[in-house]
Amino acid sequence: MEQSMKHTLHKQAQQWVLEAGQLIKEKMDEPLEIMTKSSPKDLVTKMDKAVESFFLERIRENYPSHKVLGEEGIGEAVSETKGTVWIIDPIDGTMNFVHQKSNFAISIGIIHDGIAEIGVIYNVMEDTLYHAMRGEGAFKGDFQLPKLPEKTLDQSIIELNHFWLCPNRRVNEEKLQQLVYRAMGTRAYGSAALELAFLAEGITDAYLTFSLQPWDYAGGFVILQEVGGKLTDATGESVDFLNKTTVVAANSSIHEELIKDYIELK
Ligand code: IPD
Ligand code: CA
Ligand code: CA
Ligand code: CA
Repeated sequence: MEQSMKHTLHKQAQQWVLEAGQLIKEKMDEPLEIMTKSSPKDLVTKMDKAVESFFLERIRENYPSHKVLGEEGIGEAVSETKGTVWIIDPIDGTMNFVHQKSNFAISIGIIHDGIAEIGVIYNVMEDTLYHAMRGEGAFKGDFQLPKLPEKTLDQSIIELNHFWLCPNRRVNEEKLQQLVYRAMGTRAYGSAALELAFLAEGITDAYLTFSLQPWDYAGGFVILQEVGGKLTDATGESVDFLNKTTVVAANSSIHEELIKDYIELK
């Protein structure tokens, strides 16, 4: 992607994310129309769809050749990463949005010919904007996030949701138990985008999950990469920004050890 285009899209994405966040805040006290998708726990609201439409309309009008891959499927089906693709999670952490009215984010990743170039994550209620361009550092607002320091596992806070405790999970739970025992602490925030942003900020050290969609991690990918962190699938392979995947995102000093010693897929 051309440098000037990258800078334009980076600014544009931030501006639209702030506008969309404002829209959510203004309507926050109105009744939410809540629906379910694949299961009673899989929630979506009118607001998720409205925010995705907000982006789709603007992208179509300003950048008609760009593709849009959004969680709520309002854009076209995207089956390849050629050209410029906006990968959008209009509300990441819908359950938090519905039940807590906080701890949710808007996440945007922009990839070009398969390479993640721009990441923007907006923690709406905290009004904090994490953003990055490939090769140009990651920021929280105007503050440049420093490179992540060296860590050992026993100094690390690991973010993981608790689905791995459920029966029939395709992961060796004994190894994960050892990880929970070994780590300094564990956390589960309920928004993949925020978990990745916190990791990039260095206030946590790893995020493990066994099922994530591209819109959950695309925004966080570049932000994490720019502070020296690493995001791969649970076998250490690259993610493809098109398909559901396992994700191990971590401070680089513990990433390999996590995969080698603590994650065994069954
Ligand atoms: C979910 C959240 C959650 C993660 C789920 C995601 P949504 O996204 O990021 O933390 O554990 O896998 O689906 O549905 O709230 O956008
Ligand atoms: Ca969802
Ligand atoms: Ca999500
Ligand atoms: Ca979502």
